[in-house]
Order: sequence, then structure tokens, then C-alpha cells
Amino acid sequence: MSTIIAIGSDHGGFDLKEVIKAHLIERGLKFIDVGTTSTKSVDYPEFAHKLCQKIQTGECSRGILCCGTGIGMSMAANKHKGIRAACCSDTYSAKLTRQHNDANVLCMGARVVGAGLALDMVDLFLDTDFEGGRHVNRVNAVDAFDEEKE
Ligand code: RB5
Repeated sequence: MSTIIAIGSDHGGFDLKEVIKAHLIERGLKFIDVGTTSTKSVDYPEFAHKLCQKIQTGECSRGILCCGTGIGMSMAANKHKGIRAACCSDTYSAKLTRQHNDANVLCMGARVVGAGLALDMVDLFLDTDFEGGRHVNRVNAVDAFDEEKE
């Protein structure tokens, strides 16, 4: 599996995305930035879609999306097959969504969380393994809803 992280934002999440990129560089992690490239107003679904495609093709293993609240990005991302996106604003959720939900996309709101908290969540999201066990059937049941869309 790829170890490259996909990262994206809209204008509301742009500054936070840049902070996270600097953190990933510091950690020596590879990433692909799907945009946006400035604080000029854009529509978040476009960037959620670009990021989800990176995961669906296997080019990237995990994704990080930032918008104003994290909510629009998570809604858009969760419409994509195989994507389990979690909108988080606390470290407990960022850790548990890996352990229990096997989340592959972390969404955060730049108008909700500060940069320090966001980076702690990024580290937990990237460094925490899925627990498996009793959670496997539940995650599979969630993923099975993808088939009903077709
Ligand atoms: C943009 O103003 C804002 O709506 C967007 O960043 C996000 O919060 C949507 O959920």
C-alpha cells in the first residue's frame, strides 16, 4: 500500500493545509497536494473529489482535508466509494476513528480548531492502527452501503 498522504483544502482551509504540509515535511512524510492553491474562494467538493480519487486509485493511502468547518469536506468525501472520512475536532476522536472506524480521510475545520490541535490530530490519525477484531464486521457493513448506491 502507498505511504503517500493526499492533502487538500478549499479557501477556508488553505492556511491550515499549508501548516500541515510543513509538519509532514518535518516528519519526512511524502504527500500530494490536490489544492487549492490560495485563499481565493473555491468550491470544496472539487477538492474532496480530487483527494478521494488519489485514495481510490491507490496512489495515496490516507487523506487530510481542511475547509472552514470540516463538515462540507467530510460530506463530499463520504459520497465516494471506499472512503471513510471523519470530521474531527478533538484528539480522542482522531485516534478512535482509526482504531474503530479505519477512517482513511481526516477532515478538519480551520475555523474550528487551532493549528496545534490540528497537528496533534494529524499525528494520531497517521500513527494509529485499525484495531480490527469486532470492528471489522462493522466497517464492512458501512462499506457495503457503497454497493447500494450503484
Ligand atoms: C466556505 O465558506 C465554507 O462553507 C467551507 O469552507 C466549509 O466550511 C464547508 O463546509
